[in-house]
Amino acid sequence: MTDLDTANTFTFERVLFFGRTLKEYEEMFNFSANDLKGFKILDCPSGPASFVAQANKYNVDAIGVDPLYENTFASLKEIVSRDLNDCCDLQVQVKDLAKNKRNMEIYRKEKDKAINFFLDDFDLGFQNKRYLPYRLPHLPFNDNEFDMVLSSNFLFLYSDYKFGGMMTNSPFDLDFHIKAVIELLRVSKSKLMIYPIRGPYTDNHEFLPAVLENLKNVEVNYFKTNYVDLFGCDQVLQITKHI
Ligand SMILES: C[S@@+](CC[C@H](N)C(=O)[O-])C[C@H]1O[C@@H](n2cnc3c(N)ncnc32)[C@H](O)[C@@H]1O
Repeated sequence: MTDLDTANTFTFERVLFFGRTLKEYEEMFNFSANDLKGFKILDCPSGPASFVAQANKYNVDAIGVDPLYENTFASLKEIVSRDLNDCCDLQVQVKDLAKNKRNMEIYRKEKDKAINFFLDDFDLGFQNKRYLPYRLPHLPFNDNEFDMVLSSNFLFLYSDYKFGGMMTNSPFDLDFHIKAVIELLRVSKSKLMIYPIRGPYTDNHEFLPAVLENLKNVEVNYFKTNYVDLFGCDQVLQITKHI
């Protein structure tokens, strides 16, 4: 895609601090928290999602990374509420958007659930290093430190709409995507799962083939997810590393 009149489109000038529940992660990545007991899992970026807070209750050693975790609890509370409002308002405003129209009342309730789990866990989790304020494409973890790495609703999605994402003037270019995916794979012992792999205005993201071409010793698969976002993406990218 080249040009889009961004005045009435589902595009953003910033990355939203916006999060999903454990139930949504289970659906998105086709796993059950029960099966992850004892595993060390990285969620990057984790945002105000409640995967980390809730999965830890199932004895999953889940760690969340997000640059905004350097903010105080009070600022995070403000940012998350601003971003939820902006996202819901835009969903209502942009008429041609949804292949997957939502009941906004139910949708907001789900989002509030994730936010409350996250906020309730944040202070203690931050002290216990469950929430770490790092920023892709550099993660100060050891090679192969995690059993699995999850990355949802950031890579590809927040690239520029011109390449298949939903951001205007996005700083997340192809070089960033290549470095970020290589880094996420470096810290994983085996699997990296990424969802979604495109934004609202394309079927095929322009960066995807080039990112995959730059990976060595990996197996690439796609699987169908029952968690279908607003734009109808039903594919998870699963990259498995051969050690
Ligand atoms: C929409 S949230 C996704 C949260 C969660 N994975 C989910 O699916 O609900 C996107 C997050 O990416 C974070 N982010 C922005 N720049 C980043 C970077 N360079 N590295 C890692 N995360 C970043 C933002 O702070 C934001 O919280």
